[in-house]
Amino acid sequence: MPERSKSPDSLRSRRWFGPDDLRSFGHRSRMRELGFAPEEYAGRPVVGILNTWNGLAHCHGHFPARVEAVRRGVLAAGGFPVEIPLMALPETLVKPTTMLYRNFLAMETEENLRSLPIDGAVLMGGCDKTTPALLMGAISAGLPAIFLPAGPMLRGDWAGRALGSGSDVWKFWDERRAGAIGTRAWAEMESGIARSDGVCMTMGTAMTMTSLAEVLGMTLSGASSIPAPDSRHAQMAVACGRRIVEMVWEDLTPAAILRPASFANAIIASAALAGSTNAILHLLALARRAGIALDLERFDALSAGVPVLANIRPSGEYLMEDFFYAGGLRAFLGGIADLLDLSVPTVEGVSLGEAIAGARVWNEEVIRPRARPVTTAEGLAVLRGSLAPGGAVMKPAAADPRLRKHVGPALVFDDYDSMARAVADPALAVTPEHVLVLRNAGPQGGPGMPEWGMLPIPIALLRAGVRDMVRISDARMSGTSYGACILHVAPESWVGGPLALVRDGDRIALDVAARRLDIEVPEAELAARGKAWVAPAPRYARGYGALFAAHVGQADTGCDFDFLARPGRTPEPDIH
Ligand code: FES
Repeated sequence: MPERSKSPDSLRSRRWFGPDDLRSFGHRSRMRELGFAPEEYAGRPVVGILNTWNGLAHCHGHFPARVEAVRRGVLAAGGFPVEIPLMALPETLVKPTTMLYRNFLAMETEENLRSLPIDGAVLMGGCDKTTPALLMGAISAGLPAIFLPAGPMLRGDWAGRALGSGSDVWKFWDERRAGAIGTRAWAEMESGIARSDGVCMTMGTAMTMTSLAEVLGMTLSGASSIPAPDSRHAQMAVACGRRIVEMVWEDLTPAAILRPASFANAIIASAALAGSTNAILHLLALARRAGIALDLERFDALSAGVPVLANIRPSGEYLMEDFFYAGGLRAFLGGIADLLDLSVPTVEGVSLGEAIAGARVWNEEVIRPRARPVTTAEGLAVLRGSLAPGGAVMKPAAADPRLRKHVGPALVFDDYDSMARAVADPALAVTPEHVLVLRNAGPQGGPGMPEWGMLPIPIALLRAGVRDMVRISDARMSGTSYGACILHVAPESWVGGPLALVRDGDRIALDVAARRLDIEVPEAELAARGKAWVAPAPRYARGYGALFAAHVGQADTGCDFDFLARPGRTPEPDIH
């Protein structure tokens, strides 16, 4: 058991509540205003329960009950719990995209922890950007913190089959556009696809990031796989409350947990999970917050040769509920233990190896053995070339194999709406060999890199039976999407990247094996187009959007704000 390195007198919160002076009198009297006498909190770890819930937080509907569970755990361990509500970022409802607000929530997390009398935090998140945002903020705040994952929702249910979030919607939407699914069946699907609390139960961004939070050592072992409605999820929340109190006494901060090897483990685990490409952005941002060097090529190198063992949609057949019953992330990590550095620490106070020791796989169809992987096709390729000098990413395993080496004419769209209108037009002049290009969808152009990267197949091709074609953008793609989609092109078109210079009919060459993405236009012609290019007018004259546009980084560095990603410590606030 790690030793206590803190005493009641050295708690951070004591700076607010301990001194016998006028300012602390004010602090204590206002705590009494809330109904708390010093006997309840003085000398105890004050634990902030950072809750990303509001009335529209569809994936976090169980959080109010879980706050109470965490509270019970904190009290049982001798701490003092306080709930701190934060921005919720419900993925489907926030417009234009939650990615615009990831850094906002990270700032909110950091500044709440810094400015209030808090000794440690339980971070409650799960819906897509909430996980990286809470972790980024907690890393920068530097206080002991434990992540409580929302957990996946139950399997979707429709017409006798299990439905997966996202993936099945895209698939059946194509069928509906092709006229194969009627209005009534579509309405039934709408009511059955998200039938419990919890995050998307495919291996989308939410489940990738909560699983990687566990691999990074920031959750209790096994926490990320527990379905949200399962009573074991409530028990885990209580355990988080108990553990954070111990972590405060141990002064176990994120800096003591996160190591270069933790991030290498996360990249390898993401590859074996066939995780979302969004994880690349978030891991890059998290590593920079932790002061750990990480670049795009490291993702390509570490992912190479890692077999996909999680048979979870969109790459596989099953859903997270099945994954949990099959043994969950602990058992899954056991299957790739030889690829991981098991000596890295976790919030539990044990190594990752100790955290997963003894876990067993109960269903080898869901969590495949190494001898029988879901696929050995590459889960990730980092491409560079004349169209993406700063890099671009692709999931080759999710693409039609014949498209991994492809040359075709570009069909270019300047914005999402014109693209959506064009692909819905049966008269659009397009062939399966065309390469669809969407620009102005990057960090600044989107803004916030919306998940537009899985451009719809034009209706004319869809009716002809085409289900995949090469698509390129500076956008992101939902982790539940699939297809020959090249994403995160950097630098983005909005700031004058080569994507801004492509014209209809230009030949685009993709070669996944060679990791190349090129535009076959003479350099002199491209230079001339670059000279003639006019930067778009700023999208925001004021407000958060203007702050975002002035400070957001490109995809290859994780899209953090420059002033948040830079090294250095922010001083503790003066207590005057
Ligand atoms: Fe919340 Fe997918 S919408 S995790």
